[in-house]
Amino acid sequence: MASLGILFLFLSLICISAGNAYSFVNVHCKSQTRGQHGQQSMLDCVVNMAKEAADAEITLVIWKKSGDQKPLVFFHNGELTSVPRFQLAQPSWTKKNMNVSLLINGTTPSDIGEYELQVVTTSGDSSSKARLSVTAKYNEPTVRSNPEKDIPPNTDVTLFCSSDGGFPQGKLRWFDADNHDWTSSSEMEVKQTADNLFQLSSKLTLLKGSVFSKYTCTVLSASGTKEGETKFEVPLTPVKEGQESSLASASRVVAPVVVIGSLIVGLLMALLFFKKRNQRGHPVPQDQDV
Ligand SMILES: *[C@@H]1O[C@H](CO)[C@@H](O)[C@H](O)[C@H]1NC(C)=O
Ligand SMILES: *[C@@H]1O[C@H](CO)[C@@H](O)[C@H](O)[C@H]1NC(C)=O
Repeated sequence: MASLGILFLFLSLICISAGNAYSFVNVHCKSQTRGQHGQQSMLDCVVNMAKEAADAEITLVIWKKSGDQKPLVFFHNGELTSVPRFQLAQPSWTKKNMNVSLLINGTTPSDIGEYELQVVTTSGDSSSKARLSVTAKYNEPTVRSNPEKDIPPNTDVTLFCSSDGGFPQGKLRWFDADNHDWTSSSEMEVKQTADNLFQLSSKLTLLKGSVFSKYTCTVLSASGTKEGETKFEVPLTPVKEGQESSLASASRVVAPVVVIGSLIVGLLMALLFFKKRNQRGHPVPQDQDV
């Protein structure tokens, strides 16, 4: 019975303190923001004041990245300081301005993470958190082949595709002119450049006899959206006059031979036929009749 009473007291204390904090000052941040690499990102936060505290003023603002010691934006004793690339979003912010959003200039994947905001006012204090994710669009893929040009028929060919500047890790896919997926015959390699962006390279090995003339390399974002594609024509040796395959030139000789040959045979047969008929039509000597 006693423990139930203590629990009840404890719960009501929580309700009262939570209610109190809520009734005067409450910082609310949009919990999740998606940023674009190289663009500005804003973590949108606003201080909500109760009617009773309508004329309250902000005395302290601290914007920090979770886990870091150094504040990104710091307002104290009427002085606002910030580190490069970070500032309050309102251009001429004052202690009466309840919009304490953070603006990040030139967002990069290194900015990904959780941010903490702490606000102290003349009527109480509050804090909130906001999370930033960052994406970067992959560049149009570039495709090349090995051998580079004049590939004779019946040769193994390797195609290389690469695309960089993207974040998070994406995928490269291969298709032939009939839109058949050749990705399973390829090998992809992933590298991360100094700015944390990804560079994707893929190698597609084509065995002689199964080389189509056209291929497409497609780059997909981490969520599977197509971000670019490049069509590539395999540089096969052009078929020139007089350089045709032996089969083709043979057929060019054989065809007239066949036509002329059958004409001759036909003529000979006709001759024979007429000869026979002439012989039979001739008057035969009487003594040969029985
Ligand atoms: C805070 O200020 C920024 C910059 O002016 C603006 O884009 C944003 O919408 C404001 N947020 C709120 C909640 O009013
Ligand atoms: C953002 O960064 C770019 C390049 O670093 C700079 O030219 C621009 O003035 C900055 N913008 C703000 C609002 O600080």
